[in-house]
Amino acid sequence: MTYLGHSACMLEAGGKRLLIDPFLSGNPAATLDPETVECDYVLLTHGHQDHYGDTELILRRTGACIIAPYELANYVMTKTGCCGYPMNHGGGANFDFGRLNLTNAIHSSSLPIYGGSATYLGNPCGFIIQADGKTFHHAGDTALTMDMQLTGEFYEIDVALLPIGDCYTMGPIHAAKACEFLQPKRVVPVHYNTFPAIEVDVDAFADRVGAAGVEVLKLGTGDTIEV
Ligand code: NI
Ligand code: MN
Repeated sequence: MTYLGHSACMLEAGGKRLLIDPFLSGNPAATLDPETVECDYVLLTHGHQDHYGDTELILRRTGACIIAPYELANYVMTKTGCCGYPMNHGGGANFDFGRLNLTNAIHSSSLPIYGGSATYLGNPCGFIIQADGKTFHHAGDTALTMDMQLTGEFYEIDVALLPIGDCYTMGPIHAAKACEFLQPKRVVPVHYNTFPAIEVDVDAFADRVGAAGVEVLKLGTGDTIEV
């Protein structure tokens, strides 16, 4: 998994390249060029611009398929003509890279499609991806929820990406509680310090989580880890 800044990452799973929430060209923390990035799938947790990002450009150029919540996937497929897999919460499907499930996220999901007002595109999600004998979790943008206890019960998560930036998602204290529920082996804090509104003290999160025995990986843009 290579971290691409904000909530974006590239996951190599089952011999395929999964690009998640490709907010690249407008992201002050991103270093990857949407004009040259290669991938087999684009995964979207929800429609907000800081996740949707360069989705259309990348799908048109690469011929990759979209995987996203039902309404959002159908919107992207209609807009770009790309192949895709509209899914919904609680459901899983087997792909050529492994198995993917959608998890609940408490957030919203919209794009300013018609005349600048927000058009709703279904509900936001997180992803559980099981491939190569490993389990990877991208929580998307979400509040702390009791549902995370169930996710932690059903999956032995090797690496979880959790938002900690507050304001729009969990802040450091809530995200530390989410770690207790999810019980990942390692956690990567994301969705913080990209903009002034989500500037937080990452150590407030790391100290609490570290005390609970979960390893915290503070990744910079471009850093790669083995899940
Ligand atoms: Ni969002
Ligand atoms: Mn966001």
